[in-house]
Amino acid sequence: MLISVIFDVPMAAPEQISQVFDNHGRPINYVRLAVTDRCNLRCFYCMPAEGINYVPKKELLSYEEMERLLSVLASLGVTKLRITGGEPFVRQNLIEFLQRVSLIQGLEQIHITTNGVLTMPFIPALKKIGISSLNLSIDTLDRERFKQITRRDEVQRVEATMYKIIESGIPLKINAVVIEGKNEEDITALAELTRDLPIGVRFIEEMPFNGKGANYPKLKWNYQRILSRLTEHFGPMTRLEDKPHATSTNYRINGFKGSVGVIPAFSRTFCGSCNRIRITSQGLLKTCLYDHGVLDIKHLLRNGASDPELKESFLRAFRNRAKDGFEAESKRSTQVAESMSEIGG
Ligand code: 5AD
Ligand code: SF4
Repeated sequence: MLISVIFDVPMAAPEQISQVFDNHGRPINYVRLAVTDRCNLRCFYCMPAEGINYVPKKELLSYEEMERLLSVLASLGVTKLRITGGEPFVRQNLIEFLQRVSLIQGLEQIHITTNGVLTMPFIPALKKIGISSLNLSIDTLDRERFKQITRRDEVQRVEATMYKIIESGIPLKINAVVIEGKNEEDITALAELTRDLPIGVRFIEEMPFNGKGANYPKLKWNYQRILSRLTEHFGPMTRLEDKPHATSTNYRINGFKGSVGVIPAFSRTFCGSCNRIRITSQGLLKTCLYDHGVLDIKHLLRNGASDPELKESFLRAFRNRAKDGFEAESKRSTQVAESMSEIGG
């Protein structure tokens, strides 16, 4: 029976499973779901100028398939969902999908990561559904640099969206990838936003998920260097308490309203407490960002797998997780080359 593969937790009845642990003793309670591989920007660190080869629509999971997977995962103790893409809002009828997902028992939080280009009209609906927070990807608020990085002239719309979200009261974080030679001056400019705005600005190390596999033997803008830049400019910062399983380390600049943080996505210092899994837009399960997909869930779904069979397959994959992103990467048969747009970050 299912229950036999869940370790370390005394349990009353199968339907009351509250927590699943992986083979390294880490709870799995957070899923990141990419609802599409399509995107309306072309961030150069994510995909080539001509875009990636989008998969035919029928190869993407349908909303019904996603709902089913989420219900199964919720029954295994997953309480937190992040919707990613591509850009989630390029998929039609996302709001209706979110409405239904918000009713799934056990899923306590729904977060969304968006580039903010199409998001503005949906903010009231997101508020109504009770979305827990939004993450906006903004690497710069300078029009020219934004064009260079994303290959699109959309910064004004994205900035206006940022203010509308704050006005709505939905908690907001800004994610900025720090890229050598492209937005170094934006580290302090974006951090400056936290002086008066109640938001978190987090700087992410650039990763090699760029659709072409360009790799960095040594990353110039690693998290230590980003932090040094911040303290050189703003002076000593107060370290904030880590949320459980956080990938970011956060600080408050003296006297500022919001917070700043770093995400060592390339250095991978946070794997020891990783509680997350990913489902790609094509229905592959990734138990680490750096693995190449460990289970083809779409295949299972489309070949008639029952809910208990799906659960069993998930649990088997959770029992087999790499201990960290370096192990996951070393087990791959091909080097990291996929676009973040397929994975969802
Ligand atoms: N390295 C780091 N972050 C990336 N993102 C996309 N591609 C990369 C990359 N190669 C970020 C986006 C967004 C999040 C989903 O992932 O900027 O904030
Ligand atoms: Fe689109 Fe995000 Fe990739 Fe930029 S990083 S191209 S916004 S999916």
